[in-house]
Amino acid sequence: MPLKTHSYSNKDLTVTWKPDQCIHSTICWKNLSSVFNPKIRPWINMEAEESAKIREQVLKCPSGALSILETNENNAMQNIDEQKEKVVIDVTVNGPIMIATECMIKHGDGTEEIRTGKTFLCRCGASSKKPYCDGSHKKIDFKG
Ligand code: SF4
Ligand code: FES
Repeated sequence: MPLKTHSYSNKDLTVTWKPDQCIHSTICWKNLSSVFNPKIRPWINMEAEESAKIREQVLKCPSGALSILETNENNAMQNIDEQKEKVVIDVTVNGPIMIATECMIKHGDGTEEIRTGKTFLCRCGASSKKPYCDGSHKKIDFKG
């Protein structure tokens, strides 16, 4: 059964909200309470801030309960998530996981590293440069 969806519009964009998907993280109403206020109805006021600000906040919704509908090049309404380029993560045969685009790796010690180009993550467990692949999967004849 499709999830119930509520829509809220101003002249530029339409924000949709799926209550069953909302995890009540409070992120939207703590950060932009002029627009998102669960104490009043309708709880989303599309006239309270500039569209750019609303858009920016919607994109931070961790659950995907909030999303944006915009008009695409064919004049059809499309969810902005469907227009975003998808990140390609390639599980290579008998080898590492390849991330094909720029990404940020958050290490276990809390440090963060921006990686450009392709990143190869070890999947076999034998690399001495974990989390990255150093080619050891070939030496151990990793299958998987
Ligand atoms: S940010 Fe998304 S998940 Fe969090 S309360 Fe708002 S709608 Fe719900
Ligand atoms: S996948 Fe390449 S070293 Fe582990």
